[in-house]
Amino acid sequence: MAVDFSHVHYDSAEHARRYPRVRRSMPREEWDAVYEQVAAIQALKRRRGAMVLAHNYQRPEIFHGVADVQGDSLALARIAAESDAEVFVMCGVHFMAETVKLLAPDRLVLLPDPQAGCSLAESIQAADVRALRARYPGVPAVCYVNTSAAVKAECDACCTSANAVQVVESLASPEVIFVPDEYLAAYVAANTSVRIIPWLGRCEVHERFTGDQIREYRHTTDAFVLAHPECPVDVQEAADFVGSTAGMIAALDQRRPERAVLITECSMSDNVSSAFPGTQFLRPCNLCPHMQRVNLGNIRACLESLSPAVEVPADVADGARRAVQRMLSLSGRPA
Ligand code: 13P
Ligand code: SF4
Repeated sequence: MAVDFSHVHYDSAEHARRYPRVRRSMPREEWDAVYEQVAAIQALKRRRGAMVLAHNYQRPEIFHGVADVQGDSLALARIAAESDAEVFVMCGVHFMAETVKLLAPDRLVLLPDPQAGCSLAESIQAADVRALRARYPGVPAVCYVNTSAAVKAECDACCTSANAVQVVESLASPEVIFVPDEYLAAYVAANTSVRIIPWLGRCEVHERFTGDQIREYRHTTDAFVLAHPECPVDVQEAADFVGSTAGMIAALDQRRPERAVLITECSMSDNVSSAFPGTQFLRPCNLCPHMQRVNLGNIRACLESLSPAVEVPADVADGARRAVQRMLSLSGRPA
């Protein structure tokens, strides 16, 4: 996919035209206050031939102001694999930037804040996967994309929450090791006959939601409840829909509810609300501190200095790439 930014001229008229996309989450004065940064980033992108990828959990001024591509982990990985941009800026967390680097090894991949990590990725190391494999000889291993490249290199295939069941079933094994999220593992186990051997990692954002919270929403509102599969099992059981961030958007699109509550990182409601003007979003606000590390200031700085760049250690790159490509080839769009 060729990246042509010649059409992008971010002037004050463009700024005003974009405002409706953030109106429901940002007062006009706040939007105007970010104009100078957004315009500078748009100009730098053109100069650098850079593509800005933004996860659904990024702040609205990033998601609607400077991103070229928005989406869930799976969409961002796919688009990066198909793009021929010279430079990628990952507005997301470290494992997402690493995945882009695996798929575009000859390109520059920038992560505006190198400290943007993930509690799930940090919950497991390559040695833990080797120990699980030794304990369950011959059992294939699947890792969630929220892992380091070193962990991916120890696994047969990678998955995201959008395709976890499909990836597990593709291995045609009665048992599968599934790391690192225990709740996503439970979701997969509930949706397949494959026996799942989990790891007990958790997302620090989603584990805070409770079944009682969902029941309270039920009791007091008629909202359509959508939960991410990184939520505890009783939350998943109490929700109307369980799926990845992209799955939630598709479910909203199909249902067009009057009121909805997204049981996930709360920036997501801000970002999608403009696409669903007829839906009122109730906002339980759990923010991911890692996602929130990315801001317009460090995006601009990284495009100016072309750093910090994310590299994948040479000894794990091939193995990790194989695991990611296996996932992408399953979705019918090989890397
Ligand atoms: P998605 O794969 O749904 O984009 O989620 C990624 C993530 O980090 C969720 O916490
Ligand atoms: Fe990781 Fe959770 Fe943040 Fe997603 S929301 S990046 S899983 S800590």
